[in-house]
Amino acid sequence: HGFSLDLRLITDSTNDKLKGDGFTHNKLVVAEYQSAGRGRRGRKWVSPLASNLYWSLGWKTQLPVQQLGGLSLIVGLAIVKALQQLGITGVELKWPNDIRYQGRKLGGILVELSGDMVGGLQVIIGVGLNVHMASNAAESIEQEWINLQELEPTISRQQLLITVIQCLQDYLERFSDGGFESFLSEWQRYDECLNKKVAILQGEDVINGIGAGVDANGAFLLQTGKGIKPVYAGEVSLRFR
Ligand code: ATP
Ligand code: BTN
Repeated sequence: HGFSLDLRLITDSTNDKLKGDGFTHNKLVVAEYQSAGRGRRGRKWVSPLASNLYWSLGWKTQLPVQQLGGLSLIVGLAIVKALQQLGITGVELKWPNDIRYQGRKLGGILVELSGDMVGGLQVIIGVGLNVHMASNAAESIEQEWINLQELEPTISRQQLLITVIQCLQDYLERFSDGGFESFLSEWQRYDECLNKKVAILQGEDVINGIGAGVDANGAFLLQTGKGIKPVYAGEVSLRFR
């Protein structure tokens, strides 16, 4: 469907590789190993050889930047849908970018804006999914994590990639046409934070509350003693308490 594929054995980070390619639309970079895989705010994404999926998609959009808060959420929903098609259920999404199973991290999403041009913004959508990573490769991961192979022993990385990209293409089209709003009820179904006690950390500040879903722009809604407060992804972290 008009996608181009750049398959690499080794790269620093598939997000950074795409950034170096200038403006791209529907260009997919896939790597077997990342020497500098990244999470949010410069944190390391553990990326051993031939174990997992690491890919990034270059995508142009005409949507205004305020509406892009929902993008990492719909990427998560597309992944949940793809996993269901492969027989894997019970996956949840932790706002804004974590893919989890029973509280353990299965993967993550890193959406970055890399520039603007006449008539649109350049977005880079990066995804890492753990498939059959050896536990000694993952010693530096300081939170609970899990491999997809534990959920579906016959999973193939190739089939997984194809299914995820097909679902993502659908969801991106729908998102381009109508923004995040039409995904709200779907998000609610997989929202790990809904009705849970959570804390939002912003630098030294901590705000406690209860997860109350997200709004039509993809902002997290925190129910506090003083009413519902929208929280934007940029500089915050979310923890269960
Ligand atoms: P935040 O809520 O601030 O996003 P986070 O802990 O999810 O917090 P991210 O930057 O989203 O932080 O993700 C990076 C973190 O994910 C790393 O600090 C590490 O704990 C964990 N991590 C790194 N590689 C992997 C991996 N392959 N699988 C699971 N978790 C990983
Ligand atoms: C997170 O949970 O913080 C997001 C992790 C995103 C990891 C993927 S792996 C492919 C792409 N390249 C990177 O360097 N990061 C993303």
